[in-house]
Amino acid sequence: MKVTQAEFVISAVGPDQYPVDALPEIALAGRSNVGKSSLINRMINRKNLARTSSTPGKTQHLNYYRINEELYFVDFPGYGYAKVSKTQRQVWGKMIEKYLLERETLKLALLVVDLRHPPTKDDELMYDWLKHYDIPVCVVATKADKIPKTRWQKHVKQMKDALLLRKTDAFIMFSSETGVGRDELWAHIASAAGL
Ligand code: GTP
Ligand code: MG
Repeated sequence: MKVTQAEFVISAVGPDQYPVDALPEIALAGRSNVGKSSLINRMINRKNLARTSSTPGKTQHLNYYRINEELYFVDFPGYGYAKVSKTQRQVWGKMIEKYLLERETLKLALLVVDLRHPPTKDDELMYDWLKHYDIPVCVVATKADKIPKTRWQKHVKQMKDALLLRKTDAFIMFSSETGVGRDELWAHIASAAGL
């Protein structure tokens, strides 16, 4: 897909702030600091439209980005960041859960994981939860540039095995640094969004 337009729309704190134009939505879930916002920036080839940071916990609401007047990326707050208060985590958890279960325009959830490491307990819970509710998932294993090419396949296998990835589920290796996986991910998104 050729991105000709990308804009930040809203940092939504709840459903009454979600867009009403019914464009397909692609949600990004993953642990804090894994690289969700960077992935959005790479997909649209913009340096810093989605705010990234080396400090975890930067994304705090549901951040909506509209692409080509065709779809939205919805950037979630990351999970598993210890310094976020329990109350705050519960608020996010509820908001995300409600969004994933009730948002009719949601077409695909990207579960972003770190290719370098086995999935965390939270990654496994998230994947199982999405599968349980029949939400279409694509696992995106990012930061591939941080390991040598010769070890990619080993890490991919480790990740798939640990998540008990279903054969029917998409899995894409990615790097926001180099753009590896970008075309493949766009093709998958376009198909899921019916574009
Ligand atoms: P939260 O909003 O806190 O949940 O984090 P996030 O998942 O949005 O992570 P973010 O995109 O802000 O990236 C976190 C850090 O990882 C930043 O320092 C990024 O530059 C770095 N990073 C993200 N993706 C990649 C990648 O593919 N390769 C490399 N080398 N670094 C990456
Ligand atoms: Mg972020």
